[in-house]
Order: sequence, then C-alpha cells, then structure tokens
Amino acid sequence: MKGIILAGGAGSRLYPLTRVASKQLQPVYDKPMVYYPLTTLVEGGVREFCLISTPQDLPRFQQLLGDGNQWGLSIEYREQARPEGIAQAFLIADSFIGKDAVTLILGDNVFYGGESFQRAFREFERGAVIFGYHVHDPERYGVVEFDAHGLAISIEEKPTQPKSNYAVPGLYLFDNEVVNITRALKPSPRGELEITDVNMAYLRRGRLKVYRLNRGFAWLDAGTSSSLHEASAYVQTIEKRQGVKIGCPEEAAFRQGFLSLDRMKSLTDSMPKCEYRNYLLQVIEEARHLPAEPA
Ligand code: TTP
Repeated sequence: MKGIILAGGAGSRLYPLTRVASKQLQPVYDKPMVYYPLTTLVEGGVREFCLISTPQDLPRFQQLLGDGNQWGLSIEYREQARPEGIAQAFLIADSFIGKDAVTLILGDNVFYGGESFQRAFREFERGAVIFGYHVHDPERYGVVEFDAHGLAISIEEKPTQPKSNYAVPGLYLFDNEVVNITRALKPSPRGELEITDVNMAYLRRGRLKVYRLNRGFAWLDAGTSSSLHEASAYVQTIEKRQGVKIGCPEEAAFRQGFLSLDRMKSLTDSMPKCEYRNYLLQVIEEARHLPAEPA
C-alpha cells in the first residue's frame, strides 16, 4: 500500500506561527509535527510515500525528510498550488499511486495507542476503511452515523446537528478506485474536493468499513494554538512516564525491518549529542538484548 501525507493548507488558525514555517513543521513537544503521521504509516507497514504541500513549504519538508532512504523508505514530493480540498491529493498523486491501494494521512493528526491501525492495514483488501472516534465536539469534523448493528449509514461534513459523537480522524485507506471516484467529484460550496464525498461514494457502493477506535486510543489534532500545546503536553507526559518516544520514524522503520540495526546505529552516530540520539542508542541497546516487545 502506498502512503500520502497531506501537509499543505493555510494554517491560518496558527498565525503568526505559520508565517515562516507551515503547521506540520511546528514542534509537537520534541519533534516536528510531520514525524507523527509519518511514523503512524510506517508502523502500518507503508514504505513508499508521497508528501504533498504548498509550493513555498515543500522545500523545507524535503530538507527535513529527504528521499527517505536514510530510514529505508522512499519519499516523493508534490505541490498543491491552492488548498482545494483533501481529496485533491488523489489527483495530485495520481502517477505516484499507479495501480496500488493508498492510504492518506493528514499531516497535523497525531495518533497514539493500540493495534487498531496496524490491524486495519494488515486486513485491508478492497473498498475503503475509515475510523470513528468519540469526541465531545463532533460538529468540527466529518461525523459518522451508525445503525443498530454498528454499520455506518451516513457521513456528514461539519454538521450543525451531528447524528453521533463519532468523528472521522484524518487517516483513510482506499483501493485504487479512489482516483476515479475523485475525478468524478465536483467541488463543494466551499470550493473543495471533499474527502467526505469520497467516503460517501464508497458507502453508496456498500464498500465502506468504519472501525470505531476504542477509548484507550488517542487522536490529537494540532490545528489551533491550544490543541498544539495540548498535543505537546500529552506526548511529553507519555514519553516521560514510559521512556518511549511517540512519532519516532527511525524506531518504527527499524521495528518494521526497513532499517537494519547496523544502519540505525550509523544513522544515530551521525546525530548531534541530544536526547533524541540517546533514545535511539537505548532502542539499539535493548534490541541487542531483548526479544521484540509483546503487542
Ligand atoms: P485544516 O486544518 O482543515 O486546514 P488548514 O491546515 O488550512 O488550517 P486553518 O483552518 O487553520 O487555515 O486542514 C486539515 C489538514 O489537511 C491540514 O494538515 C492541512 C491539510 N490540507 C491540505 O493539505 N490541503 C487542503 O486543500 C486542505 C483542505 C487541507
């Protein structure tokens, strides 16, 4: 499965932070925001990426992530000239997707906990898979309505009267039909190709699965100053308590077998002396002495 990281947009709610660096390059505690969604997809087994951002921000992402080879990945880059909708990503990345299935993750979504995503990636065959996450303010998101059997029956984008508390987080899995479905879409009244319209097209075909994420799972969106600060505090709390890092692409690539122990060691040796480097040295040391973590 190919992976798209969508990291464009205006970032207007984070102004003036976003005057010189885009939202997805801002720090979430100890790493750039884009490390978190990248790591989530690597943990799902994705190895080939296309990162989409604005013409002015794209060079900085390239500077940060390179071609991905250092982590055993491949990362391509494409421009989105104007923020004309999340679903536009499938048209921009058309040649990258080719004949494969594709997952799209939003560059400002931070996920943590549980095996739900890994299982969804492993079990994906066809159609579309999205997720439902219980929130207190569903009207800010796409909202899924379920029937008595737990099957999704509708999805509405930012409804004034939400039919449930289940919001759709920014991680979606699609078969190759997504490109044709998106080509047939018309922009919404706000001038965007809507991801909700793509999901609705799959729902109408009877090919949409919505997995509800359990309550132990964390989904943080870092689009406002408050939520950015809260995401940082959350990551700091977990990292301090557990001594593990969230959103560490080197570690995820290593655990997936994309990066050998030797390559990870030389990568780590080339880093300046810092906490991040110490952490990776610890991961390497533990890997030499301990069997893999229980799931
Ligand atoms: P939003 O947070 O809805 O929009 P934004 O990032 O432009 O922020 P603001 O509302 O403060 O101006 O977008 C969600 C994510 O999707 C975010 O990571 C940016 C990305 N995005 C694009 O890359 N291109 C687009 O056309 C849209 C609509 C969003």
